[in-house]
Amino acid sequence: MVQGTVNWNTQVDREWLQEYVDDWVAFYRKVTVEGNVASYIPELAKADPNHLGISILGKNGTAVRSGDVDQAFTIQSISKVLSFIIACVEKGVGYVLDRVDVEPTGEAFNSIMHLEMKSLNKPFNPFVNAGALTVTSMLNGNTPEEKLAPILELLEKIIGYRPVINEQVFRSEFETSARNRAIGYYLLETGFLESDLELTLDTYFRQCSIEITVDDLAKIGLILANDGEDPNNEEEIIPRQVARITKALMLTCGMYDASGKFATYVGIPAKSGVSGGILALAPPRVRNTQFPFIEGCGIGVFGPALEERGNSIAGIKLLKHIASQWDLSIF
Ligand code: DON
Repeated sequence: MVQGTVNWNTQVDREWLQEYVDDWVAFYRKVTVEGNVASYIPELAKADPNHLGISILGKNGTAVRSGDVDQAFTIQSISKVLSFIIACVEKGVGYVLDRVDVEPTGEAFNSIMHLEMKSLNKPFNPFVNAGALTVTSMLNGNTPEEKLAPILELLEKIIGYRPVINEQVFRSEFETSARNRAIGYYLLETGFLESDLELTLDTYFRQCSIEITVDDLAKIGLILANDGEDPNNEEEIIPRQVARITKALMLTCGMYDASGKFATYVGIPAKSGVSGGILALAPPRVRNTQFPFIEGCGIGVFGPALEERGNSIAGIKLLKHIASQWDLSIF
């Protein structure tokens, strides 16, 4: 770490910052060989396991980008953050949390076993598939297009363009949907689905197939880092209460059954997806002005080689390194 007083805004500081991040990405790219791309959705198996990219965005456009930043990928489970936000906006936080809990499971995201383990008051949280399908069923609308419109509008507002849905990935998800169907039928039988099962599944597969980049994730992260406000113009993009609950859920449930370790060793809210994306953020910090992005930042990572729980293997290690170097932990 650079010693002395650094404000990270001079040309020289920015070059240092870029060099650091480039070195770290080059180093952690080597870790990608220890992971595997998701293969249960055939279209995702086509990803290049060596890819690794990161985009970090702070206030006033301060940014560092490194690695495979221009590679588009599908949002997958990171979409559960957006569907949760929209359900809260449409139905109210109380309504949503009456029907989906906020407890980590310690089980895989698509676990069926845990559905019956507790007397089923409600699915454990909105980020496991049972909770995510319940949330998607709550979204207003009678077609997938109607249900997804507010999610795409929110994204457009944040990232500056209307993202597309990757049809090949959607088809691939649809054709290999046995497990999600099993969870869906269980939710139907237990009375949790608020929309027709086929409509819910179709919408869920489409929301997972929205195509984004690490820059887009960094922009979403920056809004969440600032409790739902755009720090550059103070416009409220996501209601403050919803943004704060979302961050708590990301911290406790966002990395699935690795969430406890991620909170302990990295210490920032994050949400992963099986295509290798991670949405992360660091809120503004008050201590030690020597670190970069002291006013908070959004972080987008892409590294499709996954560890056994479905999180980007190199992405997690890269985030851990950056968080320790820049003192990002919220604890
Ligand atoms: O439900 C599924 O199988 C996927 N479409 C989304 C899964 C996912 O990204 C889980 N993340 N780690």
